[in-house]
Amino acid sequence: MKNHHKNCRFVILISGRGSNMQKIVESSIYGKWPATICAVISNDPSSLGLQWAKDRNIPTDSLDHKNYANRDLFDQALKKKIDEYFPDYVLLAGFMRILSKDFVDHYKHRLINIHPSLLPSFPGLNTHYKAIEKGVKIHGCTIHFVNSELDDGPIIIQGCLSVKSNDDSASLAERVLKIEHKIFPLVCKWLSLGKIVINQENKVEVKGENNLLFYDDVDHMQLF
Ligand code: GAR
Repeated sequence: MKNHHKNCRFVILISGRGSNMQKIVESSIYGKWPATICAVISNDPSSLGLQWAKDRNIPTDSLDHKNYANRDLFDQALKKKIDEYFPDYVLLAGFMRILSKDFVDHYKHRLINIHPSLLPSFPGLNTHYKAIEKGVKIHGCTIHFVNSELDDGPIIIQGCLSVKSNDDSASLAERVLKIEHKIFPLVCKWLSLGKIVINQENKVEVKGENNLLFYDDVDHMQLF
């Protein structure tokens, strides 16, 4: 856990639009939590989110994974780049690359991912489609510490909603994204305030906060 007397340093990794990253940045400014977004890094130089961050004077970088012969070489270069910013935490905010064990171990208890399902249901891609196919009644998103298994690791928070009978994967994706935009900044705030610990049983404890959130009325959810 970071020493919360100093500003908490975050590096955010994205692969595309970066809407979660944007909400984290906006919320950190609005909420004035003790945090610095040190850099936004993408594996795709054309990521829309990079320009958004650049326009706000946040340092940005891109490492195109296609320029590396294999996963390990890419991950090593990425690690080197990230560590130039000395982050307390590295946030995977729509970062669509599987990371090697070495990389994950290097950031033990400092690497955090958002996934658009209620894990352990529906790891991997197309989570909303899978949820509709299975006919689940409750769906949502999860933020968790990353371990070397795909979409696994100690869960920090889950945000849920009811699936409506007329939902399709697009309508679900839209409502779940609104919850993502609420809970990722919340987790960053808690991290910056030193409220999140991993206990001896490898489970997350959040001091004095509710880490199961149910949002059926996403349109009237207060963001910040
Ligand atoms: C988000 O829905 C995030 O949960 C998902 O990608 C989207 C990125 O959107 N992440 C994963 O699927 C990771 N397995 P954004 O770029 O607008 O934040």
